Amino acid sequence: MTHAIETAGLCKSFGSTRALDALNLSIRGGAVYGLLGPNGAGKTTAIRVLTTLLRPSAGTARVLGLDVVQDAAEVRQRVSLTGQYASIDEDLTGHENLVLISRLLGLSWPDARSRASELLAVFGLTEAAGRQVRTFSGGMRRRIDIAASLVTKPDILFLDEPTTGLDPRSRNQVWELVRQIAGGGTTVLLTTQYLEEADRLAERMAVIDHGRVIAEGTSRELKSSIGKSTLRFQLLQEARRAEAVALVARMLGAGALSEADPTTLAVQVPDAAAAAAVLSALSQARLEVSHFSLGTPSLDDVFFALTGKAPSKEAEASEADTADAANATEVIA
Ligand SMILES: Nc1ncnc2c1ncn2[C@@H]1O[C@H](COP(=O)(O)OP(=O)(O)OP(=O)(O)O)[C@@H](O)[C@H]1O
Ligand SMILES: [Mg+2]
Repeated sequence: MTHAIETAGLCKSFGSTRALDALNLSIRGGAVYGLLGPNGAGKTTAIRVLTTLLRPSAGTARVLGLDVVQDAAEVRQRVSLTGQYASIDEDLTGHENLVLISRLLGLSWPDARSRASELLAVFGLTEAAGRQVRTFSGGMRRRIDIAASLVTKPDILFLDEPTTGLDPRSRNQVWELVRQIAGGGTTVLLTTQYLEEADRLAERMAVIDHGRVIAEGTSRELKSSIGKSTLRFQLLQEARRAEAVALVARMLGAGALSEADPTTLAVQVPDAAAAAAVLSALSQARLEVSHFSLGTPSLDDVFFALTGKAPSKEAEASEADTADAANATEVIA
């Protein structure tokens, strides 16, 4: 069976920056696949190569069995992209934007108008259809952006950070849309920095950092790969955190600790007995604990254990952003 997406040793350099460094992905079709990684990990670059907007420096990438360099035109016919930055014209209304894109994709005027109305209805934007997009809220913008990628039904939809910056309600609406799109048979590849998003939506995921895959699997596999349980505790005296860190590192090794949250310490432990031993050692050292809990690791713990970084809650602007913003039209058919 042909994979929906397959890359082998995929590299992309910008000057001395290795944005992709031998990226290997094998993604089966028919589901939502998550690409997770911190700022600058190479997520957008990977998507841009896979959607033929960037040429790889080395290695190969096949989308639906087609080579992204040799068969670029065919790849473009079959995939759609909602980029990280809005590709919609702010001065046009919601309806006008979708008609414009439909016309660019070769639909007749009547077909373009009816497709635009249909998509606005599906995305809950009928009432705002006649308003300039500049008056839309962040959630509405994201929805019309995704709608713009669905004028023709793609075999694969690439969504680059579809919910960054959205409030929880809008995020839920976008998740629901993504589920509907995948339910309709479109393979969805989405990038995200929100672990919860990958956890809820993606059947499988790859964690990437410095342009490489550092872990791959289902959410459950990734969580169990770092340990069976996580002991979390808060110290009464925050100032003695370093002592607690040193004590845990002596008992379980430095790799067991994640310090994603500045007030809570999270420690991967093999079982409840090990957790009890840690608590008892803390008590003997007179490091008083105000709260503790023992539970399964979260995807945040996985992310920290793998990348040494806490997943960021907001995407930061980087030089890549400027480069992306300059590339105004990211909607391709
Ligand atoms: N056009 C470009 N010119 C120069 N450097 C670039 C360009 N695009 C990306 N980079 C660099 O490549 C690396 C990967 O960037 P990329 O945008 O793919 O990361 P990302 O995982 O999408 O990050 P974010 O979560 O911030 O969107 C970064 O170091 C970035 O600065
Ligand atoms: Mg990005």
